[in-house]
Amino acid sequence: MVLIAPSLLAADFKDIGQQVAMVEKAGADWLHFDIMDGHFVPNLSFGPDMVRQLRPYSRLFFDVHLMVDEPLRFVDMFAGCGVDMLTVHHEACVDVRQVLQTIKMQGIKCGISLKPQTPADVIEPYIDLLDNVLIMTVEPGFGGQAFMTSQLDKIKQMQHLIGQRSIQLEVDGGINLATAPQCVQNGATALVAGSAIFKAQEPAQIIQKLKQAGEK
Ligand code: DX5
Ligand code: ZN
Repeated sequence: MVLIAPSLLAADFKDIGQQVAMVEKAGADWLHFDIMDGHFVPNLSFGPDMVRQLRPYSRLFFDVHLMVDEPLRFVDMFAGCGVDMLTVHHEACVDVRQVLQTIKMQGIKCGISLKPQTPADVIEPYIDLLDNVLIMTVEPGFGGQAFMTSQLDKIKQMQHLIGQRSIQLEVDGGINLATAPQCVQNGATALVAGSAIFKAQEPAQIIQKLKQAGEK
């Protein structure tokens, strides 16, 4: 079954603790935190204090997606908040290897994220360091955008590049009950979903259905 990572960006911030408890109870696997700096992406979200404060209230795997320039500056800060994995944008790093090694030195998992225009093969030099590859299926910065079908081929290519390695292939942006099966069929092993879960009448049902996406 594909792993489901609800994105808190679409949650009701005034009830954030309750929202986290709800997705955990509903069977979510990871909790996805979208960290934005208003520079790498044209939007701001939340920072390390949000992650730190939620940590004692959840057993979920904390999956942090850093949409910030020069992410090296923030690695130690987020590691200290109890995150399980830090995924940085290839386009935002001055020295990708150094960033990944710094994350590893903190004893947490690391990933590379790619914007829609960035080709899959940029990960090749770092593949043996990676725990996760995150393919963006929208331009990063905002929730609620439409899924870019053009990225399905890239997901498939990435699956081939990863081969038998134990690297998660996470897909993020515009995931819903219609797009999730296409991602899984092309090789996704983890799906981020914001609006499809938190704006639904019955979020728990959506999580259960997403978990079965792409299964025959
Ligand atoms: C976009 C973020 C996504 C976003 C997904 O920059 O990385 O995680 O929250 O939201 P939906 O599922 O609404 O497209
Ligand atoms: Zn994200």
